[in-house]
Amino acid sequence: MNKNTAGRWSLDLKKVTGQLILAVSTAVLGSVQFGYNTGVINAPQKVIEGFINYTWIQRYDESVDPSMLTTIWSLAVAIFSVGGMCGSFSVGLFVNRFGRRNSMLMINVLAFIGAALMGFSKLASSFEMLILGRFIIGIYCGLTTGFVPMYVGEISPTALRGALGTLHQLGIVIGILIAQIFGLESIMGGESLWPLLLGFIFLPALLQCIALPFCPKSPRFLLINKNEESKAKNVLKKLRGTTDVSNDLQEMKEESRQMMREKKVTIPELFRSPMYRQPIIIAIVLQLSQQLSGINAIFYYSTSIFEKAGVEKPVYATIGSGVVNTAFTVVSLFVVERAGRRTLHLIGLAGMAICAILMTIALVLLDQLTWMSYISIIAIFGFVAFFEVGPGPIPWFIVAELFSQGPRPAAIAVSGLCNWTANFLVGMCFQYVELLCGPYVFIIFTVLLVLFFVFTYFKVPETKGRTFDEIASGFRQGAGVNSPEKHSPEELNSLGADSQV
Ligand SMILES: *[C@@H]1O[C@H](CO)[C@@H](O)[C@H](O)[C@H]1NC(C)=O
Repeated sequence: MNKNTAGRWSLDLKKVTGQLILAVSTAVLGSVQFGYNTGVINAPQKVIEGFINYTWIQRYDESVDPSMLTTIWSLAVAIFSVGGMCGSFSVGLFVNRFGRRNSMLMINVLAFIGAALMGFSKLASSFEMLILGRFIIGIYCGLTTGFVPMYVGEISPTALRGALGTLHQLGIVIGILIAQIFGLESIMGGESLWPLLLGFIFLPALLQCIALPFCPKSPRFLLINKNEESKAKNVLKKLRGTTDVSNDLQEMKEESRQMMREKKVTIPELFRSPMYRQPIIIAIVLQLSQQLSGINAIFYYSTSIFEKAGVEKPVYATIGSGVVNTAFTVVSLFVVERAGRRTLHLIGLAGMAICAILMTIALVLLDQLTWMSYISIIAIFGFVAFFEVGPGPIPWFIVAELFSQGPRPAAIAVSGLCNWTANFLVGMCFQYVELLCGPYVFIIFTVLLVLFFVFTYFKVPETKGRTFDEIASGFRQGAGVNSPEKHSPEELNSLGADSQV
């Protein structure tokens, strides 16, 4: 559907310069941080709960009430998403004022503060510090998931933009996997080292602080925001390894002219205008389908889930799910551009629903049949695999494809808000619902998944290979309005690769 697709996996290696590699890999450290902090609280849950209990005993001379412990722990897990929400809303404030590179550099302050708060919480006997640290690193992650795709998209040559954009997604899942491995009791998940496990994020932050000053500023920021053409030219020359960069400059100017032509749509307008109402509803429901599918119940709590399912070494099963996650992310990177988005989303949702049912069966029958614990492992692995095929990447893809330049920033902001809110709800409520429903907890996700499947089947159009015009006219037939706008489907790749978990 656009010219990036063809060259996506046949990398033009001549275009990969040292500067480009340095800049992209430094930026992607931010994506790894996001993944790491998503996965890191999973394995050491028991140990840290023990710490909270111990602190409680020291302070109040009695052991902590189990429901209080659930509250504190769920809060420590889920407040990350509240920070993420704040961060994702502030992306625009940073990037246009300080530039993409300097924004990435600055926010490492948040990573250091978060690392210190979490790393020293045990020493200070304060689980409040742990919660505050999770909040602050959440802000960092909300910001970084905005910065990285933008920066990488803007420094990459057009032909490589799609391929390099996927590194953000890969960085996230690899970050999760690293956190799961480090969380092994024999590495850093034990009683004495867990503060180091949480505080470990200072190392990538430090690396980034050292390397970023050597990375170029975004040429697009220099040219369009700052109007410094000669600086932009110099940066491009280094990035491309050639002296003739007029094509790149031309393309950027053309792109920004196109953006100027289209009026920016505000968030309220997005909901008021009948032209946008249906697409924004679709965008919101798809974001909800990603988070309410229950995927983060797995990434936050799988070790405890596996334990309840009778798995002997639950941490290893958690690592296994991280491996499956990474593998299927790679698979989906190849498939997503070629197959229809709607089809993939439907397959993913259906597969997840089936795995959720399987998981329920395994949990219910566990008392009669001990081998059901193996079924639960298969179910969770399948759940994660199907997530990465559909509900993981597709919602972000479709948001970028449903909206042209004018309404896109507002649509992405609304989508981000819904995504983080749903992420918070799952992180916060899962353990309570689990207490309430026992082995039937996954039935709730099954019901939600089926509802999302039905919605997608009836309401979501196929966007692959269609222009904004064609998609919009499809919606207009339902809404009865007419708008003769013309849009170009450029830049989709740089926007579409932001599948967060
Ligand atoms: C807290 O620790 C005490 C003493 O080690 C223990 O008896 C109690 O079960 C623990 N409470 C919880 C909720 O883990």
